[in-house]
Order: sequence, then structure tokens, then C-alpha cells
Amino acid sequence: MDQKALMQLAEKARESAYCSYSGFAVGAALLTADGSIYTGCNVENASYSLGCCAERTAIFKAVSEGNREFTAIAICGAPVGQVPATPCIPCGACLQVMAEFCGDEFPVILADGEHVLSEFLPKRFAL
Ligand code: THU
Repeated sequence: MDQKALMQLAEKARESAYCSYSGFAVGAALLTADGSIYTGCNVENASYSLGCCAERTAIFKAVSEGNREFTAIAICGAPVGQVPATPCIPCGACLQVMAEFCGDEFPVILADGEHVLSEFLPKRFAL
């Protein structure tokens, strides 16, 4: 699957974002080594801190279905009603969750093209 197709799936997932509190809709599409795709959106809550980001939704879906080998993730985000044109850089919590399963060179596809995980998280917490 090419990067553009993966981003299109992230954009589709973004349509499901439940983000009434922030008004900021995010979508993610995670490609795994066996060719499966897991998508996710942000899911907010009236108790704000309980919300979950799109990236972690997608990653937790994959892991909970037994798939931990990730090939790439595409992420897009923008206020509801706007086209995601600028890069939506994953938050620190999502980067650490990616780092649990992915190496420094893990491709992170954003609106401006391909990045790697270590650009955003040069060092990771480890036990
Ligand atoms: N959000 C994500 O889904 N992914 C990120 O990496 C950063 C932020 C969501 C969380 C919240 O629902 C909204 O964007 C505004 O912070």
C-alpha cells in the first residue's frame, strides 16, 4: 500500500472522530507487516482526560487483535470542517506508545510527507 492510499484511509477514519469538546478531528491508519490496516480516530469524553487519540486507538486495535508488527502509520488532523493540510504531529503519549512496538526508523506519514519516529521522539522511556 502506498503512502497516499494509507493517508486516504486516515482521512476516512477522521470522519468518525468524536471530538465535541476540542472540535479537533484526527484520523490514523496503521499498516501492519501482514498487510492489515487498523484505523482509528480520537474519542473524547465529558471527563476530558479520558479521551483517546486517534493513533492510540489504531495501535490498541491492532495489538488487541494480536498484531504487533507495524510497517507505517498515516495521521491527519484539523479542526472539524477544515481539510487537514498541515502536519498533525503525534502527541508525546502516542509517540511513546509507538516506541513500544516500533524502531527509530518507523515511518510516520503526515500531511507534508514521510517522517520517522525518531524525529519526534529521539529518545524513549524504557524500563
Ligand atoms: N489528538 C490526537 O488524536 N492525536 C494526537 O496525536 C494529538 C491530539 C486529539 C486529542 C484530542 O481529542 C484532540 O486531538 C485535541 O487535542
